[in-house]
Amino acid sequence: MNSKITVFGSFVVDLMGRSPHLPVPGETVKGSIFKMGAGGKGFNQAVAAHKAGADVTMITKLGRDTFANVALDTMKELGMDTGHLFYNETEGTGIALIIVDENTSQNEIVVVSGSCNTITKEDIKTVEDVIKASKYVLLQFEVNADANERVINFAHENGVKVVLNTAPVQPIEDSLLAKVDIVTPNEVEAEALTGICVDSLEAAKKAAKVFFDKGVKEVVITLGSRGVFISSNGREEIVPSFKVDAIDTTGAGDAFNGGFLAALAEGKDVWEAARFASALAALSVQRLGTTPAMPTREEIDQFLKEHSA
Ligand code: ATP
Ligand code: RIB
Repeated sequence: MNSKITVFGSFVVDLMGRSPHLPVPGETVKGSIFKMGAGGKGFNQAVAAHKAGADVTMITKLGRDTFANVALDTMKELGMDTGHLFYNETEGTGIALIIVDENTSQNEIVVVSGSCNTITKEDIKTVEDVIKASKYVLLQFEVNADANERVINFAHENGVKVVLNTAPVQPIEDSLLAKVDIVTPNEVEAEALTGICVDSLEAAKKAAKVFFDKGVKEVVITLGSRGVFISSNGREEIVPSFKVDAIDTTGAGDAFNGGFLAALAEGKDVWEAARFASALAALSVQRLGTTPAMPTREEIDQFLKEHSA
């Protein structure tokens, strides 16, 4: 059975500081902890899926700088394939400035995508074989839009299932959305893309219908600590999250997406996959950081065993 996943997306270095409150414009706040680590939605999702046991190829574009080593070191340490990385000789590796409120665990993020926003059609040509050999390709909106468009078109033409995590949200042509098999917005992104405020199960169903009318096949809307709404083959339900003490929810969506794909690639149905992904995300929000917060497969299995009732 083909269980390969290609993650086509961003790598950036996360520069995270914790603060007693999120600063208002013009305010300087004395923070407590600072951490630098691997991040970027694409990279976080790839690491989450890899640590969950999936066969993952990460495709991204780095700069020729020391921040690129954060990606390479992390991938080597985790035993990930580093053979499909592009380099920009002049544009630096991207970064994200992240502030996490130490009381509420809410965050503010500015992401500067840098080199991973410069993926060319020539770059993509060199990884067509990898994409074609995959069961799923998972994308986000943190790289240049024309690169995503090429990959979605190529994957769709070659029978590879396309999963689009619409973060950070931006407009997408209906003709491209029609080639997406599974869309995974959070509630804010779902509202931006459908015009429907997802504040109830009924509203989530309406938002899903907007996506279905555009040709998407399955809809997964993450709802933070409330869980995740899924509409698949006529069944529409919320899979609740696990109750845990969150200290940093940055990257919860990435944890969920990586876990969801890993489980789907193993052959689990969307409902089982959502439970697995929710466990992975619940473990990740109890740790600081994004990529470094992703749990191992053993930890996920143990967590699910402990929460089986
Ligand atoms: P981010 O942008 O911070 O990465 P997101 O908005 O894309 O996150 P969310 O909807 O906040 O994603 O969360 C994704 C999933 O993570 C949820 O569906 C849920 O399963 C899990 N999750 C998020 N927050 C919590 C929490 N506080 N406790 C337990 N699980 C959580
Ligand atoms: O989803 C979390 C990620 O968004 C962070 O790792 C940061 O890099 C931003 O891109």
